[in-house]
Amino acid sequence: SAAEKGGHEYFMLKEIEEQPTALADTLRGHFVGGRIVLDEQRLSDQELRDVDKVFVVACGSAYHSGLVAKYAIEHWTRLPVEVELASEFRYRDPVLDRSTLVVAISQSGETADTLEAVRHAREQKARVLAVCNTNGAQIPRESDAVLYTHAGPEIGVASTKAFLAQVAANYLVGLALAQARGTKYPDEVAREFHELEAMPEAVRTVLGTSERVRELGRELADAKAVLFLGRHVGYPVALEGALKLKELAYMHAEGFAAGELKHGPIALIEEGLPVVVVMPSPKGRAVLHSKLVSNISEIQARGARTIVIAEEGDETVRPFADELIEVPAVPTLLQPLVSTVPLQVLAAEIARSRGYDVDKPRNLAKSVTVE
Ligand code: AGP
Repeated sequence: SAAEKGGHEYFMLKEIEEQPTALADTLRGHFVGGRIVLDEQRLSDQELRDVDKVFVVACGSAYHSGLVAKYAIEHWTRLPVEVELASEFRYRDPVLDRSTLVVAISQSGETADTLEAVRHAREQKARVLAVCNTNGAQIPRESDAVLYTHAGPEIGVASTKAFLAQVAANYLVGLALAQARGTKYPDEVAREFHELEAMPEAVRTVLGTSERVRELGRELADAKAVLFLGRHVGYPVALEGALKLKELAYMHAEGFAAGELKHGPIALIEEGLPVVVVMPSPKGRAVLHSKLVSNISEIQARGARTIVIAEEGDETVRPFADELIEVPAVPTLLQPLVSTVPLQVLAAEIARSRGYDVDKPRNLAKSVTVE
């Protein structure tokens, strides 16, 4: 009913709006007495200290959240982090032992490939931490420890609030490791956590731009394809934006690392092709920022319609942006929490304009429990 959907036409639209709450609820209770506390502390500080390698395994959007985690965890902890699709990991011979931490991310906690990846990891004595949104699901039951995301039930098949909550939970894993290893001083850990705590408000600000993004979505409803470009943490955001558009609007969409443009993808650019570019902060990542500005000018010169997600006040990008969507300035590593949101809104609106059921895209199930 409309009431269940909080007055929205689709659950997904309600779930997009619930993201500030999902983030706040996921962070709540994890900073106590000046320290990061992971749920239930089933991994001791000693076990966290003994970790010498991290593997993240997941599927779909959860995998994209893992790609974001790699940037943060490696930066904060100096531990090597590998991120792999669960369906690949489980059939390989990954190099793991008892000092490997495997982070298995799953909204449902029932995804068959992720569950098998957990079993595969545990057979090799790795410690497994599940990041999961569903209490008591199979993946957390078979893991050594669990960090629950508190996004609440997600009805829309396309993940939105659960994805954002996964990204936030992964940051907590990174900070817990940094704290245990001493790669960050306690006051630095506290500062990072407080930055995270400010993110629900930043997401609320982004949601304020949704009306304009929807208008743009209506304009793009007849596009044949959309490309998404990003770098650094903006690269997984580009992949996630493209996935949303594929699953909801049945449109050909690809995410690329912007640095790869000249290695092939630029050949796809033609007159009128919409290209969404996720900009890094001009202050936080000045070098990458200027490289992306030159990418945008190149693709614009070849006729692409550039849709640019940039930090507010980023003037250098304005001349090259056919459409500019501003997001608040936040620390670079946390940027996916704000820059993903307009891409969700865009995909939902394109799908709606094309007359598709936003909550139940064709051929897809909410959780993939069979291979
Ligand atoms: C995302 O929009 C998807 N529908 C899908 O990729 C999903 O993220 C993936 O199937 C993983 O699901 P899980 O988090 O429940 O394991």
